[in-house]
Amino acid sequence: MSSINADKQQVKTLLPGSTIGILGGGQLGRMMANAGSAMGYRFIALDPVPDSPAGQVAEQIVAAYDDREAARELAKRSDVITYEFENVDAEVAKMLMDESHVPQGSELLYTTQHRLREKRAIQAAGVKVAPYREISSVDELREGVGAFGTPCVLKTAMGGYDGKGQWVIRSTDEIEEAYETLARAKVQLVLEQFIRFDKEISVIAARSPQGEIKTFPAAENIHVDNILHLSIVPARISEELQREAEQLAARIAEGLGAVGLIAVELFVTADGELFVNELAPRPHNSGHYTMEACRTSQFEQHVRAVCNLPLGDTTLMSPVVMVNVLGQHVEPLLSLMASSDESADRLKVAPKVHLYGKKDALVKRKMGHVNVLADNIEAALSWIEATTIWKV
Ligand SMILES: Nc1ncnc2c1ncn2[C@@H]1O[C@H](COP(=O)(O)OP(=O)(O)O)[C@@H](O)[C@H]1O
Ligand SMILES: [Mg+2]
Repeated sequence: MSSINADKQQVKTLLPGSTIGILGGGQLGRMMANAGSAMGYRFIALDPVPDSPAGQVAEQIVAAYDDREAARELAKRSDVITYEFENVDAEVAKMLMDESHVPQGSELLYTTQHRLREKRAIQAAGVKVAPYREISSVDELREGVGAFGTPCVLKTAMGGYDGKGQWVIRSTDEIEEAYETLARAKVQLVLEQFIRFDKEISVIAARSPQGEIKTFPAAENIHVDNILHLSIVPARISEELQREAEQLAARIAEGLGAVGLIAVELFVTADGELFVNELAPRPHNSGHYTMEACRTSQFEQHVRAVCNLPLGDTTLMSPVVMVNVLGQHVEPLLSLMASSDESADRLKVAPKVHLYGKKDALVKRKMGHVNVLADNIEAALSWIEATTIWKV
């Protein structure tokens, strides 16, 4: 496709009534469809699992993500295509680009699918990442561990999530096992210096095809077993750092020519330095707090961006803590919902429950989240504690 065509494609405005096709039918697609349906858009999701989270609130094509015929059908039935995960098959992405309107393009996907490409692009935008090295042999790993010292983190360049595909090397004795284990994935490896961060935060930026950029307030993220547990907003860092983090995210969105959402995960060190950890070119778990706490949610913002509408105001309306609901939390949460919640009354918090319609509540599986709106963060955290739901 010529670049002139690409440019022409990019400035197409899609008004409500148009159909948005989503590659992927998980919770991110579901919440995107809910936000966009409220505005009058129609949705169709492609996902291999029948009655997927998005399929319950939109139309669904049941097929594998790399099924080209199905992707072609999605293109035919949609006015614009977006995606809810970054590991979109390159062939499918190319085909959709040729046959349909994909305002996000395939470049950003290509970049963010691979940690090395991603780090280079972040650096090219003038933003710092943790020092890293490309690793393609156990000798290079030995050398790298020598240079960074322990601990340091070995990661597969592609395909990792929720801490999978990485190994924290705590002693030189682990070098061989770490290499052999991760090399099985048959992709490039990256070694990163271990950042002794004080906090992890994230900022979600949105960019429209015309180059308008808006950022959401930074979220302070707390992980348990490598899975996001809490997002606390406002993040408990100085306002100056919050602003700086938003500016970095905007610079990355601009530098990478993003369209739609781009989530930026950062480390904050004790002396107030910011390092970008990784990016996601889509709605992000740490942005779910925006659904009730901001004037515009990340999902509405994404729909606005890909449809080339002006971006919405991202002002935070209330302090909020988002807590993820994993499989083991579903039952106690449902019982709490059916009873009167005295601690919510006492602490003056409003817990907003979101469940994704997944059938099997497997341990550690993301089933939903609760946005706890409160007058202050402490009250929201006290409510989470008082429920005892998240003790397991
Ligand atoms: N270089 C690093 N230094 C310190 N901690 C790290 C580093 N890289 C990753 N981590 C920790 O591991 C978590 C998961 O790593 P990340 O690269 O974000 O992979 P994933 O794709 O699994 O989210 C991070 O949120 C952070 O807590
Ligand atoms: Mg991450």
